[in-house]
Amino acid sequence: MTKKILVTGATGTIGREVAKCLAADGASTRAGVRDRTKARKQFGDDIELVAFAFEDKRLFTDALEDVEKVFLLPPLMPNQVEVTNAFVDAAQRAGVQHIVKLSAIGVGTETFTAGEWHAANERHVRNSGLGFTFLRPNSFMQNFINYFPPRDGVIYLPWGNGKASFVDARDIASVAARALTNEAHKNKIYTLTGPAALSIDEVARTLSHVAGREIEYVDVPESTARDAMLKAGMAEWQVDLLMELHEINKQSRWSTITSDVQEIIGKPPIAFREFACDHADKFR
Ligand SMILES: NC(=O)c1ccc[n+]([C@@H]2O[C@H](COP(=O)([O-])OP(=O)(O)OC[C@H]3O[C@@H](n4cnc5c(N)ncnc54)[C@H](OP(=O)(O)O)[C@@H]3O)[C@@H](O)[C@H]2O)c1
Repeated sequence: MTKKILVTGATGTIGREVAKCLAADGASTRAGVRDRTKARKQFGDDIELVAFAFEDKRLFTDALEDVEKVFLLPPLMPNQVEVTNAFVDAAQRAGVQHIVKLSAIGVGTETFTAGEWHAANERHVRNSGLGFTFLRPNSFMQNFINYFPPRDGVIYLPWGNGKASFVDARDIASVAARALTNEAHKNKIYTLTGPAALSIDEVARTLSHVAGREIEYVDVPESTARDAMLKAGMAEWQVDLLMELHEINKQSRWSTITSDVQEIIGKPPIAFREFACDHADKFR
């Protein structure tokens, strides 16, 4: 029986790309999904699907059957630590050998809620004795599509002149696929960034150029950003968590550039301009 790689978060920004990279490499891949219809649309019949939800332990046994490695993408929920750790315990019992965990830049060095949750999950994976690889990416370039896209030509963010070394989700996925298929990445921690630290003004200028229309950045006060998220129906815990990230970025605390992507995948990380060109239709 060929041992499998289970990909969690497989219908999301990163997991989708990880599953596709693995399948393209010929790895025996199983996608753990909540929504089969969505998954089938993404993957066609190419990838095996299994029902999976972090909060439903009854699904773990089938999801983990014959699985040797796991791409672990913790869900953003208030009990992330508990549900993710319970899944790690199940993986260990099922004989999994190696977990490649998506984490976040700043884990272990900065104090922020999402980082503390990821740190607790990292500790649990380490303490479990399983092989691990922790991927700590900076903010995804895809956030400008999924979370703060230009609205009527304006990006509203409370980042002041802060800069960040945004990284393309496709690079994170390529690194994850390498870590899942190459033993050399066992027990390693990587900080994944793009090739340049950019302010939101610079992001807006690049998007304007690529989209062929004016896109501007409006630096909104924190209170305005908070109220807008609450008004849009986001839960207070989530708004608090995101405001911490905005504050860190306003202070350019994640503007560092690392060589990890280049060293692992053997080519330079995708530049913001390339990301923008590849998704130009989303910004027109
Ligand atoms: N965005 C950033 O800039 C950034 C930066 C660093 C780290 N991160 C970390 O990246 C992760 C988010 O990655 P992403 O952007 O790929 O997420 P995403 O696009 O929101 O996708 C989340 C995936 O997880 C699945 N999911 C959500 N809740 C689940 C649950 N309870 N059980 C099982 N599956 C569940 C979703 O399934 P459905 O399709 O069914 O919803 C989807 O497949 C978080 O851990 C975050 O801390 C994000």
